[in-house]
Amino acid sequence: KRLLPLMASIALLLSACGREDLSALRPQGPVAQGSYDLMKLAISIMICVLLVVFGIATYVWIKFRRKKGQTEPPEQVEGNFKLEVIWTVIPLILVFILAVPTIQKVFAMGEDYTKDKNAVHVKVTSHQFWWEFEYPDYGVKTAQDLIIPTNKRISFQLKTADVLHSFWVPSLSGKIDTNPDGTINKWSFTAPKEGVYLGKCAELCGQSHALMEFKVKAVSPESFDRWVAAMKEPAKLPEDPQIAETFKNQCLTCHAVGDQGGPAAPNLTGIGGRETVASILINDESHPVKENLKKWISDPQKVKPGNLMPKVDLTAEQIDGIADYLANYKLNY
Ligand code: CUA
Repeated sequence: KRLLPLMASIALLLSACGREDLSALRPQGPVAQGSYDLMKLAISIMICVLLVVFGIATYVWIKFRRKKGQTEPPEQVEGNFKLEVIWTVIPLILVFILAVPTIQKVFAMGEDYTKDKNAVHVKVTSHQFWWEFEYPDYGVKTAQDLIIPTNKRISFQLKTADVLHSFWVPSLSGKIDTNPDGTINKWSFTAPKEGVYLGKCAELCGQSHALMEFKVKAVSPESFDRWVAAMKEPAKLPEDPQIAETFKNQCLTCHAVGDQGGPAAPNLTGIGGRETVASILINDESHPVKENLKKWISDPQKVKPGNLMPKVDLTAEQIDGIADYLANYKLNY
């Protein structure tokens, strides 16, 4: 019976880690590795404690069990100074062994690199239910796909546009809140390997909290420079003048592409090359980006309930034209 809660916890832990790229147990960078090492240390200590306690308990159960023909209660003992010192000092030592590296790592994670000239600086703003990434040193703003160079420290300054959210990339780092009180939290991590890492909002923030994902795409420093250059190019608008007109009037009032449009909604520059549409419609062979875009534009509330994108009054032809234009809006990097 005592084992039941333990087994239930392990099962829960394993089921939560089913998604390959959403696991803190497969760290892909030094910050996540630090957390993982702490987990291993804590679990090892817990297993040792468990074995010792169960060992002693088993010994006591056997040694002091009721003997045949025994009618009187066994000798009653009260107080043992030596024993009490031992079971106070050992846990204190264990707590110390756990506390020292934990405190060290927590402070290291929140260290301020905002003045570091070698770091890539990113200002993160959370919105219900999407993520905005601004690179102040490059004058570039994007959404949903966070593009970073490998092996460079990425220094984050995080805030929220509305309610409390939490920025979490399990395989690269721990989580950090974005607070509605105006505090700007600082955070940093490095991605040694190229790849796409899943990020998630880790704080209940409304109806579509569970759908508030993002991707971290770590690319070579050369690719990153090419991406920045491509982001800064003037906007490419739809070639069809009618679609261009509709796009300007209906989309660019809130969204931006290149140097045009507004800042209220996610920046769409290069959206055709992103990993997802609206963070949860994953673009792949069976779900091409154009189909996902059509699905999204036709009824945003159905895909992500409670988000601020209105269902725009467009004809099927207009939706198709805009989706086609956006799907082909890709950046070379
Ligand atoms: Cu944003 Cu949960």
